[in-house]
Amino acid sequence: MYHLKLFVLPLGASLFGFSSGANVPDSFNLYAYGEGIGGYPIVYLNGIAYVGQQSQLNASTPVARFTLSSNTLVANSNNTADTDGFLNATFFVPGPDNSSPQAGFVNGTPPATAVSTGWTFYGQTLLLVGSSGQWDGLFSAEPTEQDGIFSLNWNQTSDTAVQLSLRLTSPSSTV
Ligand SMILES: *[C@@H]1O[C@H](CO)[C@@H](O)[C@H](O)[C@H]1NC(C)=O
Ligand SMILES: *[C@@H]1O[C@H](CO)[C@@H](O)[C@H](O)[C@H]1NC(C)=O
Ligand SMILES: *[C@@H]1O[C@H](CO)[C@@H](O)[C@H](O)[C@H]1NC(C)=O
Ligand SMILES: *[C@@H]1O[C@H](CO)[C@@H](O)[C@H](O)[C@H]1NC(C)=O
Repeated sequence: MYHLKLFVLPLGASLFGFSSGANVPDSFNLYAYGEGIGGYPIVYLNGIAYVGQQSQLNASTPVARFTLSSNTLVANSNNTADTDGFLNATFFVPGPDNSSPQAGFVNGTPPATAVSTGWTFYGQTLLLVGSSGQWDGLFSAEPTEQDGIFSLNWNQTSDTAVQLSLRLTSPSSTV
């Protein structure tokens, strides 16, 4: 089957949601949605970004809480009492020349091959403004050895990858 990488913008999303960076909350969680993945939060494990089903997360697994500033996403532990070294970390995705498809967090300067600025919201959905002005949403989830835990990847083609959109909307919110 042809693997369609184009991200289809949800029609009318801006009617009720936030749009183009306006009205984005001061800090927020992001939830991953895709086939079989119903709003899993982004978590931090040793600098790598994963999405995990709530029931599979340990109490100490740091859930990422983001702030958007100058189109850069800065992340902290959602539980401020238990940061586990996860403090003011910059969220990045691999650029085209990167060998690993995994998204991650870094303290200080992101790797030269990574992309960490250009984030914006279309409605509730996180997108990256690309070099030619296009808006990309190229997230996918790759299963790990652990049930319900997926690595958060960017621009990856694989038979097992599940295409994702990352949204501000929590799974418990009424639609
Ligand atoms: C949860 O804890 C178990 C046992 O310590 C560990 O094997 C597992 O990787 C942890 N899972 C997460 C998502 O942190
Ligand atoms: C983040 O923390 C807030 C309380 O500070 C809580 O309401 C929310 O559910 C947490 N988010 C996640 C994804 O665990
Ligand atoms: C983290 O960022 C906040 C907000 O910019 C700042 O007040 C705080 O000092 C920073 N903490 C560290 C350890 O850099
Ligand atoms: C995605 O990957 C393709 C093929 O490797 C590459 O040509 C393209 O520039 C990448 N796009 C982004 C946004 O990284």
